[in-house]
Amino acid sequence: MVMFMVTRKETTPFEGQKPGTSGLRKKVTVFKQPNYLHNFVQSTFNALAADQVKGATIVVSGDGRYFSKDAIQIIIKIAAANGVRRIWVGQNGLLSTPAVSAVIRERVGADESQATGAFILTASHNPGGPHEDFGIKYNMENGGPAPEAVTEKIFANTKIIKEYLIAEDIPDVNLSVIGVSSFDGPEGPFDVEVFDSTSDYVKLMKTIFDFVSIQKLLSCPKFTFCYDALHGVAGIYAKRIFVEELGANENSLINCTPKEDFGGGHPDPNLTYAKELVARMGLGKSSPQGEPPEFGAAADGDADRNMILGKRFFVTPSDSVAIIAANAVQAIPYFNSGLKGVARSMPTSAALDVVAKKLHLKFFEVPTGWKFFGNLMDAGLCSICGEESFGTGSDHIREKDGIWAVLAWLSILAFRNKDKLDGEKLVTVEDIVLQHWATHGRHYYTRYDYENVDAGAAKELMAHLVNQQSSLPDVNKIIKEIGPDVPNVIQADEFEYKDPVDGSISKHQGIRYLFEDGSRLVFRLSGTGSEGATIRVYIEQYEEDSMKTRRDSQAALAPLVDVALKLSKMQEFTGRSAPTVIT
Ligand code: G6P
Ligand code: ZN
Repeated sequence: MVMFMVTRKETTPFEGQKPGTSGLRKKVTVFKQPNYLHNFVQSTFNALAADQVKGATIVVSGDGRYFSKDAIQIIIKIAAANGVRRIWVGQNGLLSTPAVSAVIRERVGADESQATGAFILTASHNPGGPHEDFGIKYNMENGGPAPEAVTEKIFANTKIIKEYLIAEDIPDVNLSVIGVSSFDGPEGPFDVEVFDSTSDYVKLMKTIFDFVSIQKLLSCPKFTFCYDALHGVAGIYAKRIFVEELGANENSLINCTPKEDFGGGHPDPNLTYAKELVARMGLGKSSPQGEPPEFGAAADGDADRNMILGKRFFVTPSDSVAIIAANAVQAIPYFNSGLKGVARSMPTSAALDVVAKKLHLKFFEVPTGWKFFGNLMDAGLCSICGEESFGTGSDHIREKDGIWAVLAWLSILAFRNKDKLDGEKLVTVEDIVLQHWATHGRHYYTRYDYENVDAGAAKELMAHLVNQQSSLPDVNKIIKEIGPDVPNVIQADEFEYKDPVDGSISKHQGIRYLFEDGSRLVFRLSGTGSEGATIRVYIEQYEEDSMKTRRDSQAALAPLVDVALKLSKMQEFTGRSAPTVIT
């Protein structure tokens, strides 16, 4: 057995190691600076309670992006030196973000050990590669991201760090082979266990969904299916679940072998970046080869986001969560006994609100960021939640879950088609959405993103929008210049949230303009970018009249978009005449 010593290495702080919405995200070139990752990892250990480090079991894995393998070896050596008892690594260093959450909550080691936390190595939907992004975040014992109190402590530690501990004698562990490597240090034994990346997650999914009924749907020749992992980690779960467990044809998977640079693409499942899937589904500019599949879905790099498509049909994430919530009790065994409550982030459309009202469910509107749902779930207040940013999930874990969302949709399709598999025509994704709009009304919704805008200009634009809120008559004058039919703004503010569980208050969570007909404009700066600023504009209009729910959404929203651009003086501040991405 390899014995190791602990070395104390002197170091000096790096600026800007503040974890954002989802951990620390920087260019690989930044992470590769000597001691940069070391400082952050040691600062994290210094921020955790002693019993979460000494003798603890910690998971380390991620979406497989460039620099992950080097990072894992470094973290192993620092963990050993800090007295961690064992490190669990998914084979090849791969675990999706939802799988990490599941492993923390569910996995029990041979000696009954359980993990108390995890380093997740991902920059989510940001591109990867030597000149792109890397990221690291810490998740806690409940399987969710570290709360702000912890991330602030980590940040404070990064500013004063003087030394880190490292076990340099530990050789690099072979991450491709399942098994345990054991070492002996000054504080006793230390193990690194490489385990199958998919099995714990698959086991959990089987307790939630009725795999037999989904399998029947997938084996029906009329039901065609396509899944695009955008070269991210979702691919390994897709192969295991959709192909091996549920019998889908292997040709239904595209880009399902994880690549360190995501094939040079942008692993974000939206209509702009999931080009190949969008074309296959008949939604691209050119017509697809052959008849598009009935159902399509995509994931982001770390597989927590999802996009759901029908044949020539896009399901907005805001509608997706509302439809899952409306159907969950009948279609998904995990929810058979009812929903504890539902929640959405503030910029997400109010489609879920309507479902909550009809079903008399507890409902919560939280700021952007999955961690706000975690608190509600830990308190047993929320079963299903979702965000406009292509995140959907439930209280089975404490992260959003891209594969779960697909299984939820497949469950709904399987349920609706139970008696139709031998018939002429299946109920389609589009049918389900149209029926939902007919019953609940439709929230026309779009988001305009202005990426990589000058940070100063973005701040000025936001400040202007806040200033303007103090005089609604002036706001409404501008609006009336656009068209007499555009409704008035009746309230304008910055969203503030008081957590019903711990009472904490989060201010400045997005600038809102609320109109008399229930329409909304929301403006936010993205918290996940790594270059310049990204301005997001969320535009929403409710249509209750079932005769008017089938318009093209860009056409329906055109006047409101105009209002948003004028009120924000978008072009004046940013120099941009068009957004980078429209979803
Ligand atoms: C991450 C979080 C989500 C959040 C999203 C917002 O994906 O996990 O909960 O909705 O970031 O991103 P943004 O770029 O809009 O800050
Ligand atoms: Zn992600």
